[in-house]
Amino acid sequence: MEETAAISVDDGGRGRPAGQPAEPSEEAPDQQPDVRLSGLRKTYGDVVAVAGIDLEIARGEFFTLLGPSGSGKTTTLRMIAGFEEPDAGVVELGGRDVTQLPPYDREVNTVFQDYALFPHMTVAENVEYGMLVQRAPKSDRAKRRADALEMVRLSGFDSRTPRELSGGQRQRVALARAIINRPRVLLLDEPLGALDLKLREQMQVELKAIQDDVGITFIYVTHDQDEALTMSDRIAVFNEGRTEQVGAPAEIYERPVNRFVTGFVGISNVLERDGRRFTVRPEKIRMLEPADDGAGLQTERGVIRDVAYAGMVTRYLVDLDAGGELQVVRLNLETSSAEALEQRGRQVTVGWRPEQAVAVPEDPEETRMEDPK
Ligand SMILES: Nc1ncnc2c1ncn2[C@@H]1O[C@H](COP(=O)(O)OP(=O)(O)OP(=O)(O)O)[C@@H](O)[C@H]1O
Ligand SMILES: [Mg+2]
Repeated sequence: MEETAAISVDDGGRGRPAGQPAEPSEEAPDQQPDVRLSGLRKTYGDVVAVAGIDLEIARGEFFTLLGPSGSGKTTTLRMIAGFEEPDAGVVELGGRDVTQLPPYDREVNTVFQDYALFPHMTVAENVEYGMLVQRAPKSDRAKRRADALEMVRLSGFDSRTPRELSGGQRQRVALARAIINRPRVLLLDEPLGALDLKLREQMQVELKAIQDDVGITFIYVTHDQDEALTMSDRIAVFNEGRTEQVGAPAEIYERPVNRFVTGFVGISNVLERDGRRFTVRPEKIRMLEPADDGAGLQTERGVIRDVAYAGMVTRYLVDLDAGGELQVVRLNLETSSAEALEQRGRQVTVGWRPEQAVAVPEDPEETRMEDPK
């Protein structure tokens, strides 16, 4: 993966003239999704890495592939970039079928987790590399490089080498190098994975701002649900080579379509009552004061089994008398850590508004397994 990463940047920057003319399409160009994947499938021997994916990504969208390790995110990205040939299915960019085209004939560039910067080159040389390979005139290169570095807020860093930069700065050089050719689509595979939490959160905000600036379509891979919810216009939740749900962050979080999405995006909090399975997100659940009769709420009694004080919030794990458990999160408005921890072992009544309980359908996988035929 790392080796291909370095090569990919070279290829992506080469920008040879397209090998095949664009297929005329019935849809008007501005009606076309920027990226369309249809029935995309990839196997390695017995391993089904991508099991048939259909996605449409709009121009300028910040689109995230979110899913656990091994769910097929990188493989999907590599098929879009052209480093991997699908067993079946079609990749279209702006309405043009590029499935058979090599990476350098696609208007796509990639930023990898390890950035794949050239260690012996300066920031300026790294960023200009793609244009150099294209034999762009020196003055053009300098101008575009200055623009790209300004965009990632690294003006004046031209003569440093990657070794003389922080992790976040290296990440931004990789980004500048990828956007200098103004690709139609930028693919980012866990680009913040190597950064510590603080820097990661800062870069999330910056990356999003840069994307707004350049207006390029971003396809972003992460297994971090917070990152996906913070940054994305839309998210595709991956599981075992399939997409379980595609939607805006609030939709995915508030209305997960099945148990997998419920558990992967957020705390699962799944309960079964009277044959109904539903979930309530931890921040929606109230712990009632003894005097509160919980009017209008759906309530349950239970015992606080565990308390975790986390500075801004405290997480309570409640064993319910009627079976099952719920995680409840409360902002520490006035509560001290000692007060929070004292709650362990206490009897409580928890409650939520009926509309905050979201039905959780069976997973397709589960349904299949339970099917007697
Ligand atoms: N070149 C390969 N040869 C064989 N199996 C592969 C190859 N590349 C990926 N796989 C397998 O395909 C599946 C999907 O891999 P992929 O790299 O797409 O997952 P991912 O979602 O990116 O995971 P992670 O979050 O760990 O990066 C995994 O089971 C993986 O082991
Ligand atoms: Mg991966």
